[in-house]
Amino acid sequence: MESLKGKNVLIVGATGGIGAQTARLMQGSGAQLFLAGRNAAKLHAVGQQLQVPAQRLFTVDVTSEESVAALAAGVQAQIPAVDVLVILSGIGIIKPMESLSAQEFQLTLQTNLFGPFLLLKHFLPAMKEQKKGLIINIPGVLGKVPMAGAAAYSASKYGLTGMLQSIREELKRTEIRITNIFMGGVDSAFWDNIDLRVQRDKMIREEEAAKAIWFLAQQPASGVVSEMVLQPFNHQAI
Ligand SMILES: NC(=O)c1ccc[n+]([C@@H]2O[C@H](COP(=O)([O-])OP(=O)(O)OC[C@H]3O[C@@H](n4cnc5c(N)ncnc54)[C@H](OP(=O)(O)O)[C@@H]3O)[C@@H](O)[C@H]2O)c1
Repeated sequence: MESLKGKNVLIVGATGGIGAQTARLMQGSGAQLFLAGRNAAKLHAVGQQLQVPAQRLFTVDVTSEESVAALAAGVQAQIPAVDVLVILSGIGIIKPMESLSAQEFQLTLQTNLFGPFLLLKHFLPAMKEQKKGLIINIPGVLGKVPMAGAAAYSASKYGLTGMLQSIREELKRTEIRITNIFMGGVDSAFWDNIDLRVQRDKMIREEEAAKAIWFLAQQPASGVVSEMVLQPFNHQAI
């Protein structure tokens, strides 16, 4: 395992269930955290809990290039490049076609696909200059297998998978690694507004999901873990 001590780790979506737990684990291993989230109050609460200085907390809307550019400028004014970028921002609009609106489809793509595109666009150049970096993404299993009622979400996550695989080809001759985690259901606030009969008590717990990310962030740089599939025990379909 490669130590996280002193590593610059940026977590985008640090205000979310998996993000906040990931931040806690990374900090426990001595990483220097940079945290970004959309909701300023939640961000400051997470930051305060982990004693992350205010200059390393950033509100960001990943659907806006201006906002992502400001995040990159704010982080890169303090360090040459992030060592580990964890992208955990995302929304889940899971509805059948009859009730899924065009606006909801667009917002899902904007957040789950265009957002990571903007983040890579603005953080990759500095990583390339440093000739190193690790980018961890969570397309989820719905970026690999379809599910009824997930037209918008799956479109965004399949798109994310395709985009990342293409960028990985582009980066082949660099030391920049891309790791994708195809996670099944995690019991987080993500499910609060989804009208679907799911058994949340059978899902992966937030801290277990975070442990997978924390583990992958410590893999030796001589190899690349391209992907991991982590499913709840009773959903081991793929
Ligand atoms: N939970 C699951 O079952 C599951 C399974 C597979 C994959 N995933 C993926 O894992 C990631 C994290 O999910 P989670 O379970 O931790 O969900 P969550 O608790 O709902 O967290 C979502 C995070 O995304 C942020 N976010 C949403 N829209 C944003 C925007 N426009 N700009 C910036 N940040 C934005 C939220 O920020 P605020 O809270 O500050 O608004 C929050 O930090 C998502 O990409 C999700 O698709 C989740």
